[in-house]
Amino acid sequence: MTTTLPAPPIAPAAVARPYGPDLVTFAGSAAARLRRADATLYDLLNREAARQHSTLMMVAASSVADPSVLACGGSALGNLTAEGYPGGRYHAGCSVADDIERLAIDRAKTAFGAQDAIVQPHSGSSANLAVLTALLAPGDTLLGLDLDCGGHLTHGSPASVSGRYYNAVGYRLTREGLLDYDRIRDLALAHSPKLIVAGASAYPRTIDFARFREIADETGAYLLADISHIAGLVAAGLHPSPIDHAHITTTSTYKQLYGPRGGLILLGRDARSSGPERGTLASTMRRAVFPFTQGTPDLASIAAKARALDFVAGPDFAELAKRLADGAHAIAERLSARGLPLVTGGTDTHMVLIDLRPTGLTGDVAEQALESCGIIVNRNRVPGDTTPVRTTGGLRLGSNTLAARGMDRTAAGACADLVADVLDALRAGSGVLPPAVRSAARARVDELCARHPLPGYLA
Ligand SMILES: Cc1ncc(COP(=O)(O)O)c(C=O)c1O
Repeated sequence: MTTTLPAPPIAPAAVARPYGPDLVTFAGSAAARLRRADATLYDLLNREAARQHSTLMMVAASSVADPSVLACGGSALGNLTAEGYPGGRYHAGCSVADDIERLAIDRAKTAFGAQDAIVQPHSGSSANLAVLTALLAPGDTLLGLDLDCGGHLTHGSPASVSGRYYNAVGYRLTREGLLDYDRIRDLALAHSPKLIVAGASAYPRTIDFARFREIADETGAYLLADISHIAGLVAAGLHPSPIDHAHITTTSTYKQLYGPRGGLILLGRDARSSGPERGTLASTMRRAVFPFTQGTPDLASIAAKARALDFVAGPDFAELAKRLADGAHAIAERLSARGLPLVTGGTDTHMVLIDLRPTGLTGDVAEQALESCGIIVNRNRVPGDTTPVRTTGGLRLGSNTLAARGMDRTAAGACADLVADVLDALRAGSGVLPPAVRSAARARVDELCARHPLPGYLA
């Protein structure tokens, strides 16, 4: 007698059908669940949101992501293991992941006019290290801006792999705090670096990427442009783009792209040129990210990047970028008018660097006093600064978050006046801020924050 086996379950058909309950926008119920399950953590998350709402965030490396970006980051995509690239994963179940990653790649290309984009780097630092490891063998020479002149750790600092495993030669700034392209050329001719890094964490002026490429071509080096700080201005056309000048461009996504924690690698006209070993430069960079320096990608973060990049490429971003550039100018003008010395005398970007040394204040004391008033900035070394790194002789300010809060030139100027008020009082009090000044500044901060709420964060 034969038994008939039950028919095997039919694989889900690739037909259009409703997806059932809205599994993406479960943020509300997820938050309620967190509140029930872990009141301690819930309270901490709430406190942080309230802190962000009620303080003036003026850290130049910071911005505020739209809640739609945060929703992607907190979605079920976080459950997905999807090693590999779209169409070539090492796990099943990745068809949606492939669509999402392709969308993020397309949007990155559109936002920057790039030929190719890699959206998997977990951060700007991972993006830079992937580039370094792909192009340099241990001991090879790279040329980057010195850390104490505003370069980033990953540009050759001995505190990082970039300066420990490679022969890092640093270029410095002029007495006025400006890049000195002739000197960079001399160094490149003298040291024949395999890679030149253009880009900075603390440089308020326009970077001439075309000039950097001339130097790279003359000396046979690759050029990496790290636009982590100025990516939004670049995308909006308010800073010259490096995409077709540099062989490779990197950026982090949480600063001026108003996106999630993460990084991007972008390639322009050199994308399809030969890489140092096999394949094109673009395929070399892809391998450098996975499997060379990273494992599984974070699809939730990639979706959040896609969301942020759509905004960056859209019509409202130009207005935001203009506002942040105007805001930085207004901050620089007010601080100068109040007698505070600025590195390079002003700014072309979102960033303003105050040289505190002539005031007798140090960065750490100023940073703490400002925070006690609800103004968040960061202490930073300025060119020629010999003050210890945790103390510093300067402050770095930026306008990204103020602009996202809708602050125009006048409001940004008012924030700068508040900074100057606090620093003046601190100076007069020999490093001690009088309580009355603190309360008056805190009241002004409350007023400004209430008038300019974080966009989309209040119910
Ligand atoms: C110029 C520059 N490159 C890279 C990075 C690193 O970015 P991430 O924090 O995403 O690693 C930074 C961060 O501050 C930066 O300023």
